[in-house]
Amino acid sequence: MNLPSSVTIKEVGPRDGLQNEKHFIPTEDKIEWINMLSESGLKYIEITSFVNPKWIPQLADAIQVAKSIHRENDITYAALVPNERGLQGALEANVDEVAVFMSASESHNLKNINKSIVATFPVLKPVIQEAIVAGKTVRGYVSTVFGCPYEGEVSTDAVLSVSEQLFALGIQELSLGDTIGVANPRQVEKALTEILKHFPQEKIAMHFHDTRGTALANTLVALNLGITKFDSSLGGLGGCPYAPGASGNLATDDLHYMLENMGVETGINRDQLINAALFIEKKLGKLLPSHTMQIERSQNCH
Ligand code: HMG
Ligand code: MG
Repeated sequence: MNLPSSVTIKEVGPRDGLQNEKHFIPTEDKIEWINMLSESGLKYIEITSFVNPKWIPQLADAIQVAKSIHRENDITYAALVPNERGLQGALEANVDEVAVFMSASESHNLKNINKSIVATFPVLKPVIQEAIVAGKTVRGYVSTVFGCPYEGEVSTDAVLSVSEQLFALGIQELSLGDTIGVANPRQVEKALTEILKHFPQEKIAMHFHDTRGTALANTLVALNLGITKFDSSLGGLGGCPYAPGASGNLATDDLHYMLENMGVETGINRDQLINAALFIEKKLGKLLPSHTMQIERSQNCH
């Protein structure tokens, strides 16, 4: 295996993890959780979304959360931004990184952001430009890279087309999303090998959901192809409300276990990570689905 010496884990729990949760988590609990994540050694945290609160009520407190968390200088605090209205909020709250998002498949793009793919670029163009002028870095997400809940298979050409246009608009990093967790390792190898002919590996991050238990296997394939940035959510929380059946993200704690035990450094302290997971598990009032958390619970029983 061709493994890197270190990997950046990008924690998306406060955004992707919480966005689908029906029961509103009080703002002060979100803030406390993010502060705990900051203390764990994570260097990147996606803290919220500046989207329409009618669509994602859980994150209606984006401004308060982003303004109130304790910031560490060496951590990037990012937020999802769909349009100029969202950018205003993100700039007012002074996030470090703006993450724009769209899909490689028409139907998911439409369900998720209420626009066709072609109509999305003119909306994102000023967002990306203005964010850069304001001194922010900009990340672009492409969803449904390995399959769409409405259309099934998605071609790598469709992924490349959307990704090329996002890079042309100025994004500095591309996160490739397996939104509904359908990808398998062979598919990841094939698609990523093609994608890496077009973009440098250091500009690519992988965003796996673990709906069918393939996220760690897919991660290993991507690692082997030179990818060193992975999005994950603590405890395996998560899912896209506009992708039926999309369950949790790859769990940060499981990813951390696999990487550290293979000798790939993450810089994250396991105990602090688990403490943060136990904290949000209690606030959610339900068990987190990651393997690591199941072991934690069974060990605590003895
Ligand atoms: P729209 O309804 O088409 O927007 O929404 P509009 O521009 O026509 O405006 C309609 C209303 O929304 C207006 O309010 C606007 O002010 C308001 P009204 O006059 O009706 O009271 N509005 C906003 N309010 C607050 N913040 C804003 C904002 N923009 C408009 N930024 C929009 C378009 C994209 C905003 C909407 O479709 C939306 O919010 N969608 C949310 C989608 C979302 O958050 N999905 C989940 C995240 S993506 C994901 O999970 C995938 C990912 O994890 C990767 C992967 O797994 O693949 C990233
Ligand atoms: Mg996601």
